[in-house]
Amino acid sequence: MSSSSRIDALLEPVTVRGVKFPNRVIMSPMTRGASPNGVPSPEVAAYYRRRAEGGVGAIFTESVFIEDKGTMGKFDLEGGEDLKIGWPVMFGDAPLEGWRRVVDEVHAAGGLIFPQLMHLGIQRTPAKGQAWSDIHISSPSGIWGTPEQIAGLDEEKAKALNCPEKAMTEDEIRAVINAFAEAAANAKSVGFDGIALHGGHGYLIDNFMREETNLRTDDWGGDHVGRMRFAVEVVRAVRTAIGDDTLISFRFSQWTHHDVDAMLTKTPEELQDILQLLADAGVDIFEASARDFRDPVYEGSPLNISAWTRKLVDRPVVMVGGTGVRRERHESALKPPQVVDNVDEIMERFAAGEFDFLAIGRALLNDPNWLQRARTGEPFLDFNPACLKMGYVE
Ligand SMILES: Cc1cc2nc3c(=O)[nH]c(=O)nc-3n(C[C@H](O)[C@H](O)[C@H](O)COP(=O)(O)O)c2cc1C
Repeated sequence: MSSSSRIDALLEPVTVRGVKFPNRVIMSPMTRGASPNGVPSPEVAAYYRRRAEGGVGAIFTESVFIEDKGTMGKFDLEGGEDLKIGWPVMFGDAPLEGWRRVVDEVHAAGGLIFPQLMHLGIQRTPAKGQAWSDIHISSPSGIWGTPEQIAGLDEEKAKALNCPEKAMTEDEIRAVINAFAEAAANAKSVGFDGIALHGGHGYLIDNFMREETNLRTDDWGGDHVGRMRFAVEVVRAVRTAIGDDTLISFRFSQWTHHDVDAMLTKTPEELQDILQLLADAGVDIFEASARDFRDPVYEGSPLNISAWTRKLVDRPVVMVGGTGVRRERHESALKPPQVVDNVDEIMERFAAGEFDFLAIGRALLNDPNWLQRARTGEPFLDFNPACLKMGYVE
């Protein structure tokens, strides 16, 4: 890209733990469901490659499952049917070969790539008539949320999601931590540049971190510090599995999918405690996942969650949410947003030191060349609602 544009400052390279990012722009993880039987297809590789060719410095892939039955259910690994829709996994020969192709294509286009490793936790809806329908839902305390949160669900969702279960046992917890570590080692073996852990949005790692879903009184629960033990042990195990030359990014959020107004931390002091524990365990980069970067977090301060994170911990921070698009606060990510040009506001925040990396989601899903348009001033494309559908990888 030539110089002299309003996004120049974001196009400067930066090195973290010896890994050189070509620029400060990261593609946000977005589930695509285009990996039948857990294997990312050639179309998935081409989809990510197009974003790297469009100038994105690093790609954080869609959520990828670790090997634990408690996180399956959205696809059928053993069904043998020709499934068009499937969520990718990070274990097994065929999926890993599929990922190797994705990594090679993104590298050939000059980008870095991290897989987002995740476990669904309480958000695993029981499989509908699929091979894994007898599998239980993994969660710290066997509960989906507070009575108020459950009351906020519509009837169908409450039926699908609010399925009280037993709490995970010590052995089950250890097995999941090992599965994160194995998935990370697998990812490294096929050439990924780092690991992005999904610690937000109401999935398993986040379930342990939150008072609404972690009522444990053993060493995996307690106050906001005690509830961090699972996340910390996952990070440590991943660090041991991948060594010191590979990055770990950690995504967290105040909100969850089913309670946009949830507050993981009530005060900056609590946020500082949890960030420091994660940084000490081996996190290199924090992805502060907001639904919109304009959202303030704590009463009495205009700062958003990435600005707070940057203030409180000595690690590079990714600002997430709302680049090039706008939606109402309680609207789903799957509703087509309004296209907006908010690049100048973002650059002002970058200049003010509110973040180190910018994550871009829907704007890049809609247009692989969004960054080029931001640079040249060409008009942004209208939003194509079809791009939000599962299976879309154009
Ligand atoms: C279709 C779709 C799928 C998503 N899947 C994931 C996911 O797998 N993991 C994740 O952490 N966030 C996921 N998100 C959230 C995005 O990463 C991002 O945080 C959100 O879209 C806000 O950023 P944006 O305004 O730039 O799109 C998804 C969002 C969309 C629209």
